[in-house]
Amino acid sequence: MMATQSATGSRGLAAPLAVNNLTVAFDEFRALDDLSLDIPAGSCLGLIGPNGAGKSTLFRAILGLVPMAAGTIELDGQPITGLSTTRRVRRGIGTTLQSGGVFLELTVRESLVLAARRASRKWDIAGALETHQLAELADVSVTELSHGHQQRLELAMAEVSSPRLLLLDEPVAGMGPMETQAMVQSIQAVNQAGPTVVFIDHDLAFVRALAQEIAVMHQGRLITQGTPDEISADPEIMSIYFGAAEGHATAGATEAAAQETGTPQ
Ligand SMILES: Nc1ncnc2c1ncn2[C@@H]1O[C@H](COP(=O)(O)OP(=O)(O)OP(=O)(O)O)[C@@H](O)[C@H]1O
Ligand SMILES: [Mg+2]
Repeated sequence: MMATQSATGSRGLAAPLAVNNLTVAFDEFRALDDLSLDIPAGSCLGLIGPNGAGKSTLFRAILGLVPMAAGTIELDGQPITGLSTTRRVRRGIGTTLQSGGVFLELTVRESLVLAARRASRKWDIAGALETHQLAELADVSVTELSHGHQQRLELAMAEVSSPRLLLLDEPVAGMGPMETQAMVQSIQAVNQAGPTVVFIDHDLAFVRALAQEIAVMHQGRLITQGTPDEISADPEIMSIYFGAAEGHATAGATEAAAQETGTPQ
């Protein structure tokens, strides 16, 4: 999938993100340890790594939700490190993390209208409903949505607030294959319309299907960053990842790792 930056007007334009030498410490423990990461404008980057690697903490740091012990974060080449979360969101960082979830008393359409208004955006709500395969549910109350539909609505609400960088922490957690596939299409559509997307997931097959680039974290550090093929072809990375991520590797991904490393499973 190609990233496009053709978005204009009120559409979210992609923004590059640079994280430089970021350290986040909880008492003596470094959840992020001198981490540097560059995300080009318009890309769709998958962030993987075992439990406790620091992936969610990185998102929190980008949003200004945890104090940083060292380092800088730049959006569009401008430092955002000193800004409040509200200001960072105004600069165009969107997430489904802090959207506070869907508004349960509203319909799907009303939720989107409100999300766009809160961000002072004019948005083609009918178009967003189509894009996210929610048109048939437009007048349904949010309380009646399945988990998958609710997650797609949250993504659509993030989109209509016109982010330039969208952070998605495990967007398909708890979804079946059909819902996951629909979510992949939704995320791709959002990315192609403009915003840079960074998403976290444990399922390598899902990450490979969606990401143009993959960054691998381990113990608060970035181990490597590359195309899905480059990452899967690196036996050392695969053994660190699957060695430490036991219980999270999918059967297919484990098989792929075994092929790469030559170890029988
Ligand atoms: N507020 C906090 N106080 C103390 N320790 C924390 C805090 N937040 C995170 N940690 C610790 O930092 C480490 C990284 O946590 P984080 O949630 O970023 O990992 P993760 O890569 O998102 O893991 P998972 O895949 O399980 O979601 C963990 O060891 C976690 O226990
Ligand atoms: Mg996490």
